[in-house]
Amino acid sequence: MSERKTADQRSSALLLNIGLLLTLHSVAKDSRPRRGSDLRELGVIHDGAVFCLGGKIVSVGSTKDALRDPWIKKRRKQITEIDCTGKVVIPGFVDSHTHPVFVRPRLVDFEKRIEGATYEQIAAAGGGIRSSLEGVRNAAKAALKAKVSNVLRDMAAHGTTTVEAKSGYGLTLESELKSLEALRDAASAWPGTVVSTLLGAHVVPKEFQGCSQKYVEIVCKEMIPQAAKRNLARFVDVFCDKGAFTPEETGQIFDSAMKHGLQVRAHMGQLSETALTQFLRFNPASFDHMDHVSDDDVKQLAKLDTVATFVPGANYFLGLKKYPDARRFIDAGVPVALATDYNPGTSPTMSMPMAMSLACTQMKMSPPEAISAATINGAWALRIADRKGSIEPGKDADLAVFDVQDYREIPYWYGANRCCMTILNGVVATRS
Ligand code: NIG
Ligand code: FE
Repeated sequence: MSERKTADQRSSALLLNIGLLLTLHSVAKDSRPRRGSDLRELGVIHDGAVFCLGGKIVSVGSTKDALRDPWIKKRRKQITEIDCTGKVVIPGFVDSHTHPVFVRPRLVDFEKRIEGATYEQIAAAGGGIRSSLEGVRNAAKAALKAKVSNVLRDMAAHGTTTVEAKSGYGLTLESELKSLEALRDAASAWPGTVVSTLLGAHVVPKEFQGCSQKYVEIVCKEMIPQAAKRNLARFVDVFCDKGAFTPEETGQIFDSAMKHGLQVRAHMGQLSETALTQFLRFNPASFDHMDHVSDDDVKQLAKLDTVATFVPGANYFLGLKKYPDARRFIDAGVPVALATDYNPGTSPTMSMPMAMSLACTQMKMSPPEAISAATINGAWALRIADRKGSIEPGKDADLAVFDVQDYREIPYWYGANRCCMTILNGVVATRS
């Protein structure tokens, strides 16, 4: 993907003749994440137009109206026009769960699983997350930054304009801060938006095995305070599951996060069920994975704004037969999001369309539900829906242009990339 960095590129762009424009504009009670039938409201405009100025969306409507607008008419020559005839334009994807700070793919784990080993067996035998630590601990910050930058570019090529990105493959104070700094540096060189998360509680590193409490103390008393003080993270995440952190440890870590002004989110119910109500007092932005969740907890979540984020790429790549029961959540009124979970162990994909395709075919989400979950509800899962996730005047100019006639083709053409242009905070990036 090449970014057009002419001086006026961020200042103005007029997308015209858009075959199908999905605005995802606010539905009535839209000061909360979308749930139930609201997930199907895409705000469709035929022959649409979007005008962006200074990185923001200024107007959204029909091509006819845009061309009649006196302000636009007067300045037409200075405005960059983008002809979107026969294309679909949607809000840029908000990928609200990724782990991009690692060095090498985990090909041994991949082959072991093909031969029949499970994720837990591989982790117990020294593979899994622990086998990614050495690479990050030994890497220079600039090398990590370069890795992250490449991923962000690939994500943008697939239509993603906002990325939540976690540390979590260093698991020492120094290497977690280095990971967060690499994220910050890569983010500042990318026109899109990165929301950083400290995942010091990804797994207990082997030097603390048998004394996990000591490691939790480091997370609570060193990593969280430093990350907060240096403004390196907005969220704290915990992998709360068997083989990772207990609910008690998760509570301690959330306490520390709150104390230091960071918001919380967690990997929950990936391998086993954990009662969720004990964490609600921390007002988590999102619980992610959610393969194993009780009916009672689903009922509780339906009353709240904590988003259930599904990451079906992980189920696919681990070769699981079962996927999260999205229908149970949606039909109960739980707000749901979709994310890639980009990481070297369980989900090495940067493609939101792929995550959507899996959600449709394996989890029986409808294409409109998948689009809402990958855009506006991803923004809710990061608590930035006031500026991301829909195409509305005043929001950030984050758009994805697809070379398809019908929005349902986005999850339909799985494994192919039909995104031909992405606009990130007003900067136009085209696929070369
Ligand atoms: O979301 N489950 C915890 N974290 C990642 C996997 C990380 C890894 O295996 O490297 C996940 O699936
Ligand atoms: Fe994850």
